[in-house]
Amino acid sequence: MLPEPLLWTEEGLSLLDQRRLPLAVERCLCRTVEEVARAIEVMVVRGAPAIGVAAAYGMALAARERRSLPEASARLGATRPTAVNLFWALARMEKASAGEGDPFARLLAEAKAIHEEDIASNRSLGRHGQSLLPRKATVVTHCNAGALATAGYGTALGILRAAVEAGKLVTVFADETRPRLQGSLLTAWELLQDGFDVTVIADGMSGALMRSRPVDAVIVGADRIAANGDTANKIGTYNLALVAARHNVPFYVAAPLSTVDVSLLSGEAIPIEERDGEELRFAGGERLLPVEFPVWNPAFDVTPAELISAIVTETGVLRPPFGSALRAALSGEAFP
Ligand code: MRU
Repeated sequence: MLPEPLLWTEEGLSLLDQRRLPLAVERCLCRTVEEVARAIEVMVVRGAPAIGVAAAYGMALAARERRSLPEASARLGATRPTAVNLFWALARMEKASAGEGDPFARLLAEAKAIHEEDIASNRSLGRHGQSLLPRKATVVTHCNAGALATAGYGTALGILRAAVEAGKLVTVFADETRPRLQGSLLTAWELLQDGFDVTVIADGMSGALMRSRPVDAVIVGADRIAANGDTANKIGTYNLALVAARHNVPFYVAAPLSTVDVSLLSGEAIPIEERDGEELRFAGGERLLPVEFPVWNPAFDVTPAELISAIVTETGVLRPPFGSALRAALSGEAFP
């Protein structure tokens, strides 16, 4: 059983500390909105939907501290720019803050609703997505789009879980995902806990893998999907999509509709977070490069829609052209 990635307690928001996995399973308690903002910045909690849920609880904590809610929202919104789920959740919390009675009770109820809805979306997304896989499937994934990156169950890894629940045999290759190693430290750990056959590969190995054995699908998560289907996800996803296209391997993006940003026409407008270069100058806690070595450290890249075979959401499997498919999926659900 995986520990809960996010857990509301009387004292505050308890987060599984993802910086310590897999060697230590420790929790980190956030009692204030500032502590939640710091936890998102330093990646105690990470993954687009999980960041959104954490920020929602952060707003509830701000109400408990009687802090200015617009200021709290601005602080949380300044933590990480790419995953739109953060801004989607803050917009929902802002709406919930307008109303009668105790704001803390209202905001806590809304945060809990966002938390529960995310798990339900992932289960539904998983059921739709597993239909794309054969009875015996070999899948490559990148970064961590699992239970740890969401409120639970996962998006890309939710599809793998649903495939196993449907009686399918799933073999997984997890890109290690430099520089933060979410693939090896988090995805491999999470899947091993669930008894999956999972093998870690270095990011540059997917081409060799696809030349050497049949691969049925690449499945990744998303941090922001533009109106035309262009998708921002962890750095290295675009390379993997190019390799998959070269080998005629279907490339699937798994994400809840809260990851879709129809206000941006294409991926070019997606803000890409650049993180401290020290992340690249270190590996496994050891310094590899002196601080003066120049590095470039964008945390995400954009995979163009033309390389994406399908986008799997909680409402079903969307096929190109994604513009109309995404609009149809979102109709009935107002985007804040
Ligand atoms: O920098 P991170 O670890 O927050 O990046 C996470 C990813 O890129 C995930 O693939 C994405 O958020 C989808 S999580 C369901």
